[in-house]
Amino acid sequence: SKSVYQSPSTLLVKPNASVTLNCSHKIPSYDTILWYQRSVEDTALNLIAYAYYKTPTVEPSYKGYFDVKGDGENEAFLHILKLRQAEDSGEYFCAASEGHSVVDSLSTLQKPCVTLSVSL
Ligand SMILES: *[C@@H]1O[C@H](CO)[C@@H](O)[C@H](O)[C@H]1NC(C)=O
Ligand SMILES: *[C@@H]1O[C@H](CO)[C@@H](O)[C@H](O)[C@H]1NC(C)=O
Repeated sequence: SKSVYQSPSTLLVKPNASVTLNCSHKIPSYDTILWYQRSVEDTALNLIAYAYYKTPTVEPSYKGYFDVKGDGENEAFLHILKLRQAEDSGEYFCAASEGHSVVDSLSTLQKPCVTLSVSL
């Protein structure tokens, strides 16, 4: 099946804490795992980072705040280094795709999703 799994599904965390979001799939030939954010502050869906095979890429505006580890063929981890209240609270979507195709995956982006609340 074309399923992508993400955990956990909801998170309540304190400012300045760090958190790791897991995402995995078992889709043969898919080599990229991507994360998108829709934050409370900016409700657009923004690409944060992705793992293409074992090569991590963090989009320029997210560098220093996010890190990616793992393998786009199997399981990857989004690490949020130091949570900020307004910028980082919101929904995180993970997606899997084939051949580095960042744009393609947007159309299939429904679930899974993590809701993250950064609050004292
Ligand atoms: C995320 O993956 C790591 C490594 O496989 C595992 O130890 C951890 O329990 C996972 N976390 C969740 C929330 O599933
Ligand atoms: C988070 O870190 C900043 C900068 O180090 C500090 O000013 C602030 O008090 C910290 N907030 C919490 C809730 O720890």
